[in-house]
Order: sequence, then C-alpha cells, then structure tokens
Amino acid sequence: MKPGMTPKLLSVLDGRTSGPPPIWLMRQAGRYLPEYLAIRAQTKSFLEFCYNSELAIEATLQPIRRFGFDAAIIFSDILVIPDALGQDVRFEVGEGPRLAAIETPDQLKGLASTLDLDHLAPVYRAIAGVRASLAPDVALIGFCGAPWTLATYMIAGRGTPDQAPARLFAYRHPEAFSQLIDKLVDAAVVHLSAQIEAGADAVQIFDSWAGSLPAGELEVWSVRPIQRIAEAVKARHPQTKIIGFPRAVGEQLLPFTQIAALDGLSLDTTADRRWARQVAGGKPLQGNLDPLAILAGGAALDRAIDSILEDFASYPHIFNLGHGILPPTPIANVERLISKVRSGGR
Ligand code: CP3
Repeated sequence: MKPGMTPKLLSVLDGRTSGPPPIWLMRQAGRYLPEYLAIRAQTKSFLEFCYNSELAIEATLQPIRRFGFDAAIIFSDILVIPDALGQDVRFEVGEGPRLAAIETPDQLKGLASTLDLDHLAPVYRAIAGVRASLAPDVALIGFCGAPWTLATYMIAGRGTPDQAPARLFAYRHPEAFSQLIDKLVDAAVVHLSAQIEAGADAVQIFDSWAGSLPAGELEVWSVRPIQRIAEAVKARHPQTKIIGFPRAVGEQLLPFTQIAALDGLSLDTTADRRWARQVAGGKPLQGNLDPLAILAGGAALDRAIDSILEDFASYPHIFNLGHGILPPTPIANVERLISKVRSGGR
C-alpha cells in the first residue's frame, strides 16, 4: 500500500494516533437509510439479500457514499455460519431470526462437520467487489459472530432475553456444548480467512451476548474461543487487524485485554471509558456512543460526543457506537456526528 493511502482505521489499530479518530458505525448499512429500504424491497428473504453479491455490494457502499465513513463493513449477517453448517435459518419480518432449535446433544449431529464454502461464495465475491470500488484510504471490515453468540441462537432457535437455553445446555451437556463451540471456532477461522483472502483489511468478532455469562463460564465459552480464533487468523494473516467485541462484559473486559492476537477491543454502551483506557494497556479501543444519544440528537448527542473525544484524547481510538444504529435514527444526526468528530468536537 502506498504511504498516505493506509486507511486511518488500520494505523489506529497499529497503535498510532494523529488528529481526529477514524469513524464508522455498527449496522451503518441498514434500515435507517431510505436507499437501503429501497433495495431491500427487491428480495423477500433477508438471507437471499445477503447472498446476492450485487445487492450486498450496493448495501455496503451506500453509507460510504452518503457519509464518507473511514471504514465499510461487508453487508452480511453473523447467522450465515449456522446456515452454512446446514441449520435451517430464516428471518421473520419484524420478529428477528428463527432457526431450527437444537434441544438435545443428539440434534447436534444434524450439523455439517465443516462450513459449506460454496454456499458462502457470494459473501466473498461481494467483498472483492466492494474492495474494487472503495477508495484505498477506506478500510474494509469483514466479520463473524463469536461461537458463544452463535450458539445462543442455534440452541434457542431465536433471540432470547438472557440466553437461558444455551446456558442451560452448557451446564447440562458440557461435552456436547464444547464440541459445538469447537466447530464454531473452526468455522469462524475459515470464514474470516476467506473474507481476508477476498480483500477484507480488518475483521471484527461480535460476541453480542457475552454479558450473560458468569465469569468462569465466560472464560471457557467466550474468552478462550475468541483467543483461539484470533490466534489462528493471525497465524494465517499476520497483516490483518482483528477487533473483538465482547458486549456488556463490564470488568470482565480484563481477560480480553490480555489476548495479544486481538489488535483492538470494541466497547459497549455501558463501558467505563476511562477505566477501559487504563486497563487496556495501550490496546486500541473502539466505541462507545449510546445508539439512543444519536437517535435523540441535539444537546445530548453533542455532550456525548465531546465526552468520548475527551476520554480518548491522545489514545488510539476508533469512533463508533456501543451497539448497532437504530432504524429510527435521523440521517441529520449521523451527519452532525461525523462533522463534529472530524472537527475535533466543535
Ligand atoms: O452494517 C453492518 O453492520 C453490516 C451488516 C450486519 C447485519 N447484522 C445486517 C442485518 C452485521 C455486522 C450484523 C451482525 C449481527 N447480526 C449481530 C451482531 C451485532 C449485534 O447487533 O449485536 C447479530 C446478533 C445479528 C443477528 C441478527 N440479524 C438479528 C438479531 C437480526 C434481527 C434484529 C434486527 O436488528 O433486525 C438480524 C437482521 C439484520 N441483520 C438486519 C440487518 C440490516 C435487519 C433485517 C432487514 O434489513 O431486513
């Protein structure tokens, strides 16, 4: 890559700081954008949309064209992994994901032993297509769901408030659950590697439901699996940056800061920024604007932005939300956020 063309997101993940932080938003492609709703209407099923490379490329590029974010994230979903392992996955409009629930260890035998890469080929083609039309100074992020978060959907068959079905399954059938987690670790390594080989500059591992696990369980089902994924991906692709997002773990962020193969950590909305900065030992941090603050806008948004910029002054930081942007968020608030972050808070 030519000097000066390195995406700012990648230099921050290398630990460098200069000027305003790079900015992108989780779920930046999606339902708050009228142009997304227009192309989404072309296919009935959400997964069909995800596996249509042309539509996925367009959805990925829409927020870059409109706002000029410093990074694009490939338009896809974490549930393509269970889908490519042969589990029945659907998205019901207005209800979220529905999977064929795995209620007994025996039902795990119905899953394929390895990921069907032909099934996921449209995702990798979309990554190559996005990279080809993206400016060289804009980073392209690939992603996957962490094994624990994927397992919560695979076992319950849907989103659950406290992930009780997966937690119970892990207590009742630790060996079978451990085999499922191992399979998901392998699948994540293969899926992230294929995204990197197709052109992703960085990857993010989403453990959205890590926060429901007691510390001991978190260590076994979240920290170690994420560490194994990050180490295996780093060994194959030493240049690629890896961001971990163990959401809502509070002080249990500490074990994640010890994972050397993770180049950065994304903080959720409730994370204490100054504490995180102290314990992260220089590891770059991403986040953590409240999605409700950007939805609300006005003085509340301005205050929240200033406070984040102040807390991360002269620290390697990527501006982002603490969780995904909400569909009713006004476009003008996103514009306000970007211009305020880029002008250093004024
Ligand atoms: O812009 C981006 O961030 C890239 C695309 C992306 C989507 N999902 C698109 C999507 C990414 C990175 C995800 C990750 C994802 N998917 C997570 C982890 C992050 C998080 O939010 O915690 C999880 C848990 C999922 C699973 C999932 N996908 C759920 C629970 C739902 C339904 C709830 C909802 O938000 O609607 C989805 C559907 C989904 N994934 C949509 C989008 C744009 C909405 C469906 C549609 O547009 O028809």
